[in-house]
Amino acid sequence: MMKLEDVKKIAIIGGGNMGHGCAMVFAGAGYPVGLYSRRAETLEKAVVGMRDDLTFLAERGLGRLEDVEATVGLVKTTQDMEEAAADADFVLECVAEDMTLKQDIFQKLDQMCRPEAILATNTSVMSPTEIASTSERRERILGTHWWNPPFLIPLVEVVQTEETPQWVIDVTMDLHWKIGKHPVHAKKDVPGFIANRLQHALWREAISIVERGIADPATVDESLKFGPGLRLPVMAPLENADLVGLDLTYSIHSYVLRHLEDSHEPSALLKEKVDKGELGFKSGGVGFQTWTPEQQKALRANMLDYLCKAVREMREKDE
Ligand SMILES: NC(=O)c1ccc[n+]([C@@H]2O[C@H](COP(=O)([O-])OP(=O)(O)OC[C@H]3O[C@@H](n4cnc5c(N)ncnc54)[C@H](O)[C@@H]3O)[C@@H](O)[C@H]2O)c1
Repeated sequence: MMKLEDVKKIAIIGGGNMGHGCAMVFAGAGYPVGLYSRRAETLEKAVVGMRDDLTFLAERGLGRLEDVEATVGLVKTTQDMEEAAADADFVLECVAEDMTLKQDIFQKLDQMCRPEAILATNTSVMSPTEIASTSERRERILGTHWWNPPFLIPLVEVVQTEETPQWVIDVTMDLHWKIGKHPVHAKKDVPGFIANRLQHALWREAISIVERGIADPATVDESLKFGPGLRLPVMAPLENADLVGLDLTYSIHSYVLRHLEDSHEPSALLKEKVDKGELGFKSGGVGFQTWTPEQQKALRANMLDYLCKAVREMREKDE
């Protein structure tokens, strides 16, 4: 049985968007990291990406410019998976979202890793139980679902399978607290874990309101941003229900729930847009709304500024 103090080295398998982002967070907390990718080009991009992202953060008061090179230096890149994984105590798989590929990686890790090592998958939607199912050490494999951008969003969903013992959950939760994340424990391995279930219940209703002609897309988003969305970071649904009273919540649900969208399929409007190639920013800006290149840039920049400010405030509160 391992303890938090036994975790001395991290391995990250996959050097793409999430892989390099997670690597720099572990390194930023002082952990040496072995970062594996098949391609030298991916690893070169990962190093540039970590340097750029750490500099971006430091310029916004999250970290220090003089620490950037030391943090990047803690990440040793390699095209040899065994070199990254063999002496690691905690391994995070961040390869493409493909079940066969992930199962194959865990079978290889089984052979390469120390018997005590904890192995985690960063899958967005797939079942960690199924990913672990072809491995010999299923009890040491669990989900740790980071959110994008991994160096800014604090949440990491720690997903338990039926075979994960409590101590593996405890060490994984403690490790993520230690590196400055906000881990939450999903006690069951279900599609969407916790946060994506909440998020997509909201998206389904947002699309349905447009589809039913109740409001246009910009109005739907405004209704959230200038209304209940504003208080969400400080008062989430169950806190809110306690505040207003469960009797009131019961009475509202008794009246309104039957009118809400409950389709088990993606909406016809969404399918129609996808079939027409109206995919949003990636197809020239036409999605639910039409975005100029300047508006696209502004939306991204606003989100990053907002996240930096929110994370700065959280850290100040914790100090
Ligand atoms: N991007 C997100 O918003 C996000 C958020 C949370 C979790 N995730 C999950 O994290 C994981 C990685 O996503 P990403 O966004 O970093 O993707 P990415 O495409 O940026 O990176 C995927 C990496 O997998 C590697 N890869 C692909 N095929 C491989 C193979 N056969 N062998 C070894 N490596 C291979 C690629 O070279 C690449 O480095 C996925 O499971 C994804 O669902 C993504």
